Amino acid sequence: MEFMLDTANLEEISTFVKIVPVAGVTSNPSIIKKEGEINFFEHMKSIRQIIGFESSLHVQVVAETYGGMLADAKMILSQIDDQVYIKVPVSQVGLRAIKELKKQGVNVTATAIYTKFQAYLAIAAKADYIAPYFNRMENLNSDACEAITEMSREIERTNSQTKILAASFKNVKQVNSALECGAHAATMGVDIINQAFANPSIQKAVTDFSTDWQAVNGDTTIAT
Ligand code: E4P
Repeated sequence: MEFMLDTANLEEISTFVKIVPVAGVTSNPSIIKKEGEINFFEHMKSIRQIIGFESSLHVQVVAETYGGMLADAKMILSQIDDQVYIKVPVSQVGLRAIKELKKQGVNVTATAIYTKFQAYLAIAAKADYIAPYFNRMENLNSDACEAITEMSREIERTNSQTKILAASFKNVKQVNSALECGAHAATMGVDIINQAFANPSIQKAVTDFSTDWQAVNGDTTIAT
């Protein structure tokens, strides 16, 4: 199971990389927009410096044409590094770009997946990751869990190397569901991680243990 951060905020990444076993960082142009006026490539290089090469960095193309997508990918790979996973939306044009990028040996994350059929095509095109948009699918009355289960069956059936990187989450329940339905990885904003630890029972248990120890030993740590 891989946990990724769906953010381009350097402070959030620096903080959470110390807490969570971060397998990667993902973003898209809307996430980048939240960072305001940045030098895009320098910013992405800073993310790489924080996460290192043992974690994957997924950067999305912006162009909507085939040539534009390939040019964006080339620029990303030359300006950031050649290990970046190029995120390409699975439109007809995007699928064509994914095939070409895989032919060139580029790491690819097929994104904006709302349907099983998009996923099946991206798997056949040998995308390294496919990113079904869990919350957006649910908003469209589509059963995201069932879709992910079928995507994972297709990967098994075809003995593919593609991994399911579930994305677009609004709560922890959705993340659990995606992983339990067969996603190999999930990318989420830090709000989801904070939500997961906001359960007051967790802190209460920690405080109770500390209080009991202190009652007997007069100190709050063992190491004194
Ligand atoms: C991954 O990077 C996706 O682009 C992202 O999770 C989409 O999330 P949203 O549905 O909250 O925009």
